[in-house]
Amino acid sequence: MKLTDKEKMMLSGEEGDAVQKGMELLIDYGEALGAEKLIDTNNVHVLTPFYFYPDILNKYLDINDIDDFISKSVLNTDNKVIVDRVKAFTTSHIPAVDLEYFDLLEASKGRDPDNFYEMVVQMQNYCTRIGINMSATCTPYTVGNVPIKGEHCAWTESSAISYANSVLGARTNIEGDHSSFASAITGKTAYWGMHLSKNRTGEIMIDVEAQPQDTMDWDLLGYYTGFKVGLKVPVYNNIKTTANMRRLMALCSAGAASGAVIMYHVIGITPEANTIAEAFRNKKPVDIMNYSKTEREESYNKLNCSSSDNIDFVLLGCPHYTIQEINYIANILEDKKVADGVKLFIFTNMQHKALAKKSGYLDTIERSGGKLIIDSCPLNTKISPSNVIATDSAKISHTSGGMKGWKNVWYGRTKECIEAAISGKWRGEL
Ligand code: F3S
Repeated sequence: MKLTDKEKMMLSGEEGDAVQKGMELLIDYGEALGAEKLIDTNNVHVLTPFYFYPDILNKYLDINDIDDFISKSVLNTDNKVIVDRVKAFTTSHIPAVDLEYFDLLEASKGRDPDNFYEMVVQMQNYCTRIGINMSATCTPYTVGNVPIKGEHCAWTESSAISYANSVLGARTNIEGDHSSFASAITGKTAYWGMHLSKNRTGEIMIDVEAQPQDTMDWDLLGYYTGFKVGLKVPVYNNIKTTANMRRLMALCSAGAASGAVIMYHVIGITPEANTIAEAFRNKKPVDIMNYSKTEREESYNKLNCSSSDNIDFVLLGCPHYTIQEINYIANILEDKKVADGVKLFIFTNMQHKALAKKSGYLDTIERSGGKLIIDSCPLNTKISPSNVIATDSAKISHTSGGMKGWKNVWYGRTKECIEAAISGKWRGEL
């Protein structure tokens, strides 16, 4: 890999051991992927690194020495190196648990809860110490991390990555906890994949016949597409209905969950696709698919897998809800009660929860028996395989079977989920 003089200096350790280790990691990773150089980034979204790797954690973590843990588990060195400050503007993905609702969530599973609670606090303190913005969300673009078109980023979280590339026109690959952390402390990322214009070219045309009418329809469209295109860049053509932020978020999260769509174009809507020719960079699509009511129905049926209509949990907020969805739910819940025995959990981030509190929505939701949970994710809810769940997220319905062993999931519109929370019964339909 070609390095600038400044990068060579960073690699030689002149800016400290931590920067040196970060550079080594990025160069190894970049070379493995065929990157010829590094580029500057001032926009990173990191996964706080301890929750997802309990084996590493159990082996290494001494909660009194977080620097040692980061050195061994993230920066790949047996020598303790101290990170001073991140170089890039860096936001954080979910730290796994909402400390207020610690007992309702599953992050402590298999570990001593007191110890785990302490680890969460330590990690948050560590992030703050080195200058990471504690956004604690899978939707950083809703809370102040909004890269512009063409901006080079290093983000984690598949739905957010797709949003950054597709909707904002920013440029990021799928980064992991190691590479994103290395980017945060060096201000560099490997120049490959979605950083290059040629890899952002549309590949498969999806001719949309079944027009998406509501957010669920956009979710179903993304879910169908992910299965069909895998890693390729789909181009949605012929959509005549109105998109909005939530609808495009659904298109992102569902496509990244059923496949690995990290970028799509919607003709006339997304920033690199004003015309079909622009989306395909004047090339021909490698394939053309039709999305009709048959495909829509297939997607819907795949996402519904419960035989009982008695609901135990309603899980909303994947990706994290914004104030707009929270407002919508509060309006439906006004003067209503969640049914006995049903739990309504709505996932968001601390910023939108604070807004909800100030706007009175939080009070309405809590009075009805629902909970607004931050810093976490529906997949972290303590649920047994026999519980029956309702969700409005294709991503949750799709991933919960494999990741969590949940066997009884209903999928539908947000309104249907709230009605299920109130009645205790699933009544959703396509
Ligand atoms: Fe966010 Fe969890 Fe969904 S991290 S995108 S709420 S699976």
